[in-house]
Amino acid sequence: MSLPVIPNVNETPVVTALRRKDLLSIADLAPDEISLILDTAEAMKEIGLRPIKKVPALRGKTVVNLFFEASTRTRTSFEIAEKRLSADTLNIAAVSSSVAKGESLADTTLNLEAMQPDMIVLRHSSSGACHLLSRLCRSAIINAGDGMHEHPTQALLDAFTIRERKKRLAGLKVAIVGDLLHSRVLRSNIYLLTKMGADVWVCGPPTLMLTDVARFGVHATSTIDEAIADSDVIMLLRIQLERMEGAFLPSLREYFNVFGMTEARLRLARPNVIVMHPGPMNRGVEIASEVADGPYSVIHDQVANGVAVRMAVLYLLVGGVKHETAA
Ligand code: CP
Repeated sequence: MSLPVIPNVNETPVVTALRRKDLLSIADLAPDEISLILDTAEAMKEIGLRPIKKVPALRGKTVVNLFFEASTRTRTSFEIAEKRLSADTLNIAAVSSSVAKGESLADTTLNLEAMQPDMIVLRHSSSGACHLLSRLCRSAIINAGDGMHEHPTQALLDAFTIRERKKRLAGLKVAIVGDLLHSRVLRSNIYLLTKMGADVWVCGPPTLMLTDVARFGVHATSTIDEAIADSDVIMLLRIQLERMEGAFLPSLREYFNVFGMTEARLRLARPNVIVMHPGPMNRGVEIASEVADGPYSVIHDQVANGVAVRMAVLYLLVGGVKHETAA
């Protein structure tokens, strides 16, 4: 196999394997494991630039992508990553599974497990669904987003993109703005960025503020100008109307007026600020089109880097490197 040498970009102590069978959350990961995934993703990104974008690292391994919630980026990105590593993959969506006939998630998964997959990638609307599968299954489980809990590979690809642009994570001011209450992307990013030494600010309407924010070690404000002043990175989060029961906002137009990212607001940030959004984005709600499509936006870089980061996670969990026993 021709994987390139993995550079030790941050000069952190070298670990060569993850200390776990599954990737369920960023909260579980140690900083050296995060660095290992990001460094491995750099090598994987190089594979994606070759004329023939395929290596045999997962030849003979079977991966099931089990998606019970809508997804464009995460599902396709995992599938491309699996194919680039030569895994055999199959995709199961809720509408085409026996869950639609009333079967439980546990029973569906145990039936799939009986067919000896090596890995299951799960997206589910219930927080904790991946932890349930982790206890039930011999296969490695990757969390592709569980309810309002975590979306670990999104935070990893976000960190990879920031590190690629800024050459570091430690010491950066990162402002995360939007629907904090319902966001699994926020939780994973807070865990990752604080573990890696970034200065994290979160900002949103009081009705959408993160519950128990003090325990996360971040600055919290509802004043957008304070959050983004001198920031190195601005990360916008989608207003998740589908998870809201009741009126959290007077109107989307009002939200855009107070919190939407415009070119005028961007001038408060550092001159080389980068603007991120995990997608799907609502233009004219979280972000003005001139910002989404403008020179500071790295939104499509995030999507591109998602493939490399997911290749790294797949490779480290079931590829050539055997995982160490959790400490
Ligand atoms: N960022 C993200 O999870 O996008 P999808 O819902 O399209 O997968």
